Amino acid sequence: MSKPAMRVAVTGAAGQIGYALLFRIASGEMLGKDQPVILQLLEIPDEKAQKALQGVMMELEDCAFPLLAGMSAHSDPRTAFKDADVALLVGARPRGPGMERKDLLHVNAQIFTAQGKALNEVASRDVKVLVVGNPANTNAYIAMKSAPDLPARNFTAMLRLDHNRALSQIATKTGKAVADIEKLIVWGNHSPTMYPDTRFATIGGQSVQALVNDDAWIRDTFIPTVGKRGAAIIAARGLSSAASAANAAIDHIRDWVLGSNGKWVTMGVPSDGSYGIPEGIIYGVPVTTANGEYTRVAGLEIDAFSRERMDFTLNELLEERDGIAELLK
Ligand code: NAD
Ligand code: LMR
Repeated sequence: MSKPAMRVAVTGAAGQIGYALLFRIASGEMLGKDQPVILQLLEIPDEKAQKALQGVMMELEDCAFPLLAGMSAHSDPRTAFKDADVALLVGARPRGPGMERKDLLHVNAQIFTAQGKALNEVASRDVKVLVVGNPANTNAYIAMKSAPDLPARNFTAMLRLDHNRALSQIATKTGKAVADIEKLIVWGNHSPTMYPDTRFATIGGQSVQALVNDDAWIRDTFIPTVGKRGAAIIAARGLSSAASAANAAIDHIRDWVLGSNGKWVTMGVPSDGSYGIPEGIIYGVPVTTANGEYTRVAGLEIDAFSRERMDFTLNELLEERDGIAELLK
């Protein structure tokens, strides 16, 4: 007998990440090849967006996915998130011409306040929320603060794309397989201030730093390449990353639900106060996952260089939090 279906809500479902994401969820790549799913898809009420969403749903239908147990289109988060087990918050307002970073924070704060409240009202009490829409960490913080009846730990932001980017850079540099790299971390904000940290990373038991044997490369090439990769994709494609972002979202939720088998992965999660990060700030940290829960890797030593980098990305998050504090009152 097949398992009961899981309800997966996806916002921004007619966008470019949505298009790279939904078909993979429906084929079982995110929650397992034996796990039926029901897709609850949210788009803005705008006629064009809703029509595009209908088109995506027609294509989903045309795939005849055996695991797709149902799907529905929504323009109101209170119906889209009803009983959701997983919520992928992808839709966000991009920066428009003449828009300051603060304006961007404000428009998105409104979206994520409304969506946090809706999750609070109607989602499963165990809902796993992943925020992809930028600024992802602060949007996740806003949604979490707007959902006081849900456990804070259910709210996460996507740092997995940065983690995957860091893995590939290290694999290329060392000539080793991505699959053999362990214990890589990306600390902080999903923004160019993030800190990809190789200090604990190993390949086949050997230290990555020893294998690379080039501190200047790590400091001056690796760290900025990973941090600025999103901008490099935009410069090359004329559009922000979509397939790799969707892939990272699938990795994030798959590991959270099905377990990382002891591997360290990076998730943006509300801080418990450890590593000098104030409680509640959504910050990229190393975690392992098992039985539907994540556990922070604790007790890592933080050296002076790392402290400086971790504080730099933290300060940006604190500024973002202060920028939207008024809206959360
Ligand atoms: P897109 O513009 O192609 O699609 C976004 C979709 O969201 C649009 O269809 C839009 O109508 C919809 N939308 C906007 N506001 C909404 C709302 N309130 N409710 C529901 N839907 C809404 O953008 P995209 O390329 O799919 O990217 C989506 C977001 O993901 C952007 O904010 C982008 O910056 C971000 N992103 C994050 C990462 C990451 O690693 N965290 C990586 C890549 C992109
Ligand atoms: C990325 O890292 O690819 C995106 O967050 C870039 C962006 O600004 O959308």
